[in-house]
Amino acid sequence: MSVARAWGGLIEHYRDRLPVKPSDKVVTLNEGNTPLVRADRLAAVVAPGIELWLKCEGQNPTGSFKDRGMTVAVTKALAEGAEAIICASTGNTSASAAAYGARAGMRAYVVVPHGKIALGKLSQAVMHGARVIQIDGNFDQALRLVRDVKERYPTRLALVNSVNPHRIEGQKTAAFEICDALGRAPDYHLLPVGNAGNITAYWRGYREYQGAGRVETLPHMMGFEAAGAAPIVHGRVVEEPRTIATAIRIGNPASWKGAEAARDESGGAIDAISDDDILAAYRLLARTEGVFAEPASAISLAGALKLGASGRLRPRDVLVLTLTGHGLKDPDTAIANSEAALSIPPDLSRLAAVLELG
Ligand code: F0G
Repeated sequence: MSVARAWGGLIEHYRDRLPVKPSDKVVTLNEGNTPLVRADRLAAVVAPGIELWLKCEGQNPTGSFKDRGMTVAVTKALAEGAEAIICASTGNTSASAAAYGARAGMRAYVVVPHGKIALGKLSQAVMHGARVIQIDGNFDQALRLVRDVKERYPTRLALVNSVNPHRIEGQKTAAFEICDALGRAPDYHLLPVGNAGNITAYWRGYREYQGAGRVETLPHMMGFEAAGAAPIVHGRVVEEPRTIATAIRIGNPASWKGAEAARDESGGAIDAISDDDILAAYRLLARTEGVFAEPASAISLAGALKLGASGRLRPRDVLVLTLTGHGLKDPDTAIANSEAALSIPPDLSRLAAVLELG
């Protein structure tokens, strides 16, 4: 009997494809290797005969895909001798930076838009000991601010937003894992677009695997922005982005060009989805497959439903949807969009009545 080696994180697993030197001390929480779950019940709703898979990135150590980029970015920050890490965030990056900063023994500063961060994400950032700085402004303004401070103090601070190329390098490993699991690339890859780092990273990962002869084909990259925060769809900056999906409440994505390249080179599309459709998909996913993802992640499913309705999908098409963050990140939105709990006295006949038994 062979003894399986424990998963040691994505740098260990994909080291030959990552910019990490043997002398770098790896900062890891054993991120990556997330479940790719086949979703037949949802597939039947999307389009006849297709194969649909969910890449459950909420299973990463801090509950989102950000950990993939953060392990590489913080490993390099430590190797380069930075004193502290800093990021702007709609929540998940701050949670991840806080955790990996703690793991590395580095100070972490996170700059977030006041009042627009889901409760779980804020709890993580403060619990891991990050200094949380709220600004009276949106994510785009927070990002501008941290880029400016990094420019003024270039060697003392490491900026760990996805403008840091190490973040993109780490995140591309999700595409590797999908190809390794399926033995091929999907026909379509669907994912949310906020600051547009992740779509850029996936496209790089798929192309790199094709270049290395690991897969033959490439997927159409299908990105989705919230309708009230859809700069790439409309081709112009959105000054005041609005959406229930706070993770992707972004009006001026840093990797705008990367997203357009992924879209155009792959024969894909970037489309906008209304908040109502995001919330409908959010509930459908949790109820149909038992997978709880946060609202921004559910946009992948809303996008799949729209793609299915367009008639473009063919039987046997293989779709992968990235579910970027865990549903527990945002308990307030979950409770607000579910049926309220019933309250009854501790009484058998009352319970039987509720169960429609008596
Ligand atoms: N989904 C979730 C759950 C996110 O947190 C984000 C981005 C995205 C999708 C979009 O990914 O920015 O690479 O296009 N969250 C960032 C943050 C902005 O600060 O946590 P993207």
